[in-house]
Amino acid sequence: MPIRIRSTIGCSAPRTGIRRSIPEPDRLDITRANIRPLSFGGGIHFCLGAQLARIEAEIVIATLLRRLPNLALDDPEHPDWRQTFVLRGLMELPASW
Ligand code: HEM
Repeated sequence: MPIRIRSTIGCSAPRTGIRRSIPEPDRLDITRANIRPLSFGGGIHFCLGAQLARIEAEIVIATLLRRLPNLALDDPEHPDWRQTFVLRGLMELPASW
């Protein structure tokens, strides 16, 4: 039975200067050091829920991987992106376990 999980990952202000300062900006690398992520904005409007969102994400991802150790994307080479430049996200992310 397919389970649909709706999620959006947003990133604001992907400016050229910021991209140039990040080696391989299009590659997901969760081990990068000395990073200044833009995911939660910055300055006076920095996300008020950032710490809550980080804790929730840590719990969700850890629980998911613990309960579904064989979880794998069905077609990781062909993601179905939403056709908008406002908030980047996927239409769906089919996976099996
Ligand atoms: C992964 C989850 C989240 C992401 C990626 C995210 C991202 C962002 C970003 C980029 C901004 C800045 C918007 C701007 O510059 O105009 C923002 C602002 C804000 N976020 Fe989040 N957010 C998340 C979760 C949450 C949660 C869980 C809460 C509350 C419980 C929250 C509350 C707020 C509020 C109140 C602001 C406005 C802050 C201000 O304008 O002073 N966010 N968020």
